[in-house]
Amino acid sequence: MTDTRPTTLAQENAAILAKDPNWWRQAAVYQIYPRSFADANGDGIGDLPGITSRIPYLAELGVDAVWLSPFYPSALADGGYDVDDYRDVDPKLGTLADFDEMVAALHASGIRLIVDIVPNHSSNRHRWFQEALASPKGSAARDRYLFHDGAGPDGTEPPSDWKSMFGGSAWEPAGDGQFYLHLFAPEQPDLNWANREVRDDFLTTLRFWADRGVDGFRVDVAHALAKDLTYPLRSHDELEEMKLVTDGSHPLWDREELDEIYAEWRAVFDEYDPPRIAVAEAWVEPSRRYRYALPTSLGQAFNFDLLRANFDADEFRAIVDHNIQSVAVTGSSNTWVFSNHDVVRHATRYGLADDPGQEGEVGKRWLLHGGPASELDAALGLRRARAATLLMLALPGSAYLYQGEELGLPEVADIPDAERQDPTFFRSPGVEVGRDGCRVPLPWTTAGSSFGFGADGAHLPQPSWFGAFSVEAEGADPDSTLHLYRRALALRRELQGAEELTWRRHPSGADDVLWFERPGGWQSITNFGASSVDLPEGEVLVTSAPLEDGRLPSATTAWLRG
Ligand code: GLC
Ligand code: CA
Repeated sequence: MTDTRPTTLAQENAAILAKDPNWWRQAAVYQIYPRSFADANGDGIGDLPGITSRIPYLAELGVDAVWLSPFYPSALADGGYDVDDYRDVDPKLGTLADFDEMVAALHASGIRLIVDIVPNHSSNRHRWFQEALASPKGSAARDRYLFHDGAGPDGTEPPSDWKSMFGGSAWEPAGDGQFYLHLFAPEQPDLNWANREVRDDFLTTLRFWADRGVDGFRVDVAHALAKDLTYPLRSHDELEEMKLVTDGSHPLWDREELDEIYAEWRAVFDEYDPPRIAVAEAWVEPSRRYRYALPTSLGQAFNFDLLRANFDADEFRAIVDHNIQSVAVTGSSNTWVFSNHDVVRHATRYGLADDPGQEGEVGKRWLLHGGPASELDAALGLRRARAATLLMLALPGSAYLYQGEELGLPEVADIPDAERQDPTFFRSPGVEVGRDGCRVPLPWTTAGSSFGFGADGAHLPQPSWFGAFSVEAEGADPDSTLHLYRRALALRRELQGAEELTWRRHPSGADDVLWFERPGGWQSITNFGASSVDLPEGEVLVTSAPLEDGRLPSATTAWLRG
């Protein structure tokens, strides 16, 4: 019999990973937007070998897992969320062999991998959609998507006045009197999840990646898959009014049938040891989020509450409390996130004026991607971002980080119109600048071609100031945001215990100070107020900004052990 005991550190790491079914509960997960992370072959587009080459960086940063945004073949009508083939790698990004190599290298470094799965829509270049267009009305090929006859006296008008999420009509003519539904870009036709073949094919896709060693899945627009398109279709205004319904009766979002779909997925996840995990991207009412987080469903769901909140002690505290209560109901764990590939980077967001919205009323600052530079206080934004992140990394649950936030990278606001890629920009048209500003390729070096991203330029233009935020520059500066993340992630690993939090009250009675303790005496204290406050007794482990005469300054977090 062969000896299967691990002989190298890499094998030991992989063996450890294979054992822990609860790894996701308090993981620090780093999101990679592959086309903008690292470009190994110098064509201006980040790729899988680029990621593999940077695994030592991720290991040093101290993350537990990587969430990889879509890397599938795609014409990039929506940054890869328009998938041509769910079971392959985009040739611009590499091959399946490159993928296998990346997974093995991640695992050998003790890092797990979550891949993005995009079930609501395929791309219009997917063979199924091409077949649907070439097939007659009423055919089995058309039933995999959501085709409808046109309306109006001669049937030339769209079946309803629904709007796509990226602007414009949600219906596109198929050329023969029928229209197809696309909640996003016209290049992203919505799949019909009432169709058995569609369901089965996704189960095959989940197994395909799980068999290749993928540890979990991030489920794109998980709340959209099931739809009720029976006639007569309601109007756009009626749908808007129904947005807040929480009984699963909205024709497009958050419907009851999703439970059944995800129960089938769960059965596939549980075929594996350890079971594969999933996290839902579901922009639903907070009170509905639990459905996706149930152990019989996807198991975990993003909460974007902190991401939408102002830098405000009361808002933060209420959100933390609410989410702790809701995971207590499902047995899931919390998810915290400030930045991702869809929103303005938080170092910039926090440098813009607060939302005027009152409690419960969500402002749009997190979605406004442009705005004149004069409205931005960049230093304040970064200072608050560092304080907020340090607070988040002390919370019980998983922390989802977005590539570049560990550098305190700001949003790139001034991408020339001619170089923009995001469909929101083109379909709004030009009113919303879109999400390209948080997707600019990362700066690795202070100078040189595309700041070390690749040998020959970057697919989105990098500003001249990018070098100051590079891994090279920050690696050399002990006060940098990069060093703060490294220190905090290392401490978090060491201190992390049970998923519990106890609020403590600052002796001064100040309402704008949030202070909590985790099991084992680990404490986090954040001063959201304008003036400095006394720091409670204890060993100071790390601070997001220097203390002032031993006091905790405005917009600063400190971790203590006491
Ligand atoms: C999700 C993705 C976003 C994409 C959309 C359509 O919200 O995060 O980037 O545009 O789904 O797939
Ligand atoms: Ca490349």
